[in-house]
Amino acid sequence: MATYKIALLPGDGTGPEVLREAAKVVQAAAQRCGFSLDTTEYDFGGDRYLATGEVLPDSAIEEFKGYDAIFLGAIGHPDVKPGILEKGILLRIRFELDQYINLRPVKLYPNVETPIKNKGPEDIDFVVVRENSAGLYTGLGGIARKGTPHEVAVQEMVYTRNEVDRCLKFAFEYARKRNKKKTLMLCGKTNVLTYVYDLWERAFHEMGEREFPDIKREYAHVDATTMWMVKNPEWFDVIVTGNMFGDIITDLGAMVQGGMGIAAGGNLNPEGVSMFEPIGGSAPKYAGQDVINPLACIFAGQMLLDHIGETEAANIVERACVAFLESGLLPGMSANEIKEAGMSTTKIGDAVADWVAKV
Ligand code: IPM
Ligand code: MN
Repeated sequence: MATYKIALLPGDGTGPEVLREAAKVVQAAAQRCGFSLDTTEYDFGGDRYLATGEVLPDSAIEEFKGYDAIFLGAIGHPDVKPGILEKGILLRIRFELDQYINLRPVKLYPNVETPIKNKGPEDIDFVVVRENSAGLYTGLGGIARKGTPHEVAVQEMVYTRNEVDRCLKFAFEYARKRNKKKTLMLCGKTNVLTYVYDLWERAFHEMGEREFPDIKREYAHVDATTMWMVKNPEWFDVIVTGNMFGDIITDLGAMVQGGMGIAAGGNLNPEGVSMFEPIGGSAPKYAGQDVINPLACIFAGQMLLDHIGETEAANIVERACVAFLESGLLPGMSANEIKEAGMSTTKIGDAVADWVAKV
């Protein structure tokens, strides 16, 4: 029997609650499909940092390299200055494990409400491939003359050809494998960022022409992309973009697909160890109340299963989520709607896990 080693990082706030339910669902799928997931839990996050001063030891990074995948709940603690945990845990894992792709599907499921008028599941189904290791996130820059009226702050958007090429290659291959409209759109800002997005655009067309003649190429500026995501989401198939633009448009994407309670993402190193997470934050206000929607984390679990090669189990998890949504037991995705419907984080997890055995 195949066994996969999975590192669980529940993290902060409602992270542990949603991850517990998602782990329940993926374990149910593993059982049904005849493989096993050997999980190890790590307590990195705000509470541990406040108690010990330790964010993430080097040894943990080394250990993570020995897993088949990492499954993360949420990072962010109200008593810890913003940036410490995000940079020290989330970004550090992404960078040190070279998870250079952030894959974020934007898919509207049945019975999930989108704020976009007159659009349904047939219109909202695309994927954003966000470059996840460089660009404005490289951290190059500095401040001079601090505290004076002439203070200057610099934050550099840095890309090497190799970083651009490896991201584009993944995106082209993904568009081919997805086999929907066989279209890849580069989202940039070539009219202003005339160095970085010039590089992206040249690399995009060179690679497309040479290696992916079957994939149609499109280009849109990032501002226009946000406009179309709202006005004509059905136009998109696969979008590839740099780190900062990808961060921004995927929050918009999360809303378009029904909110943070639904949106999932994968931080991928196609040659190494990848990490899966719900896009929504740690929602400290709701921690411990059992009212946060675990579906986003469950969808992240689906992506994890797909990534380790257990495609059938991944499909079962997706079908179970759809069956649960179609059952109508969850009229809305917010904490309040979950409470009002008499549902809870645990009940949703249990219900989806039950569906896993039936779909
Ligand atoms: C995300 C988050 C992170 C990012 C933050 C928490 C560092 O917004 O995963 O999109 O900017 O990448
Ligand atoms: Mn973000």
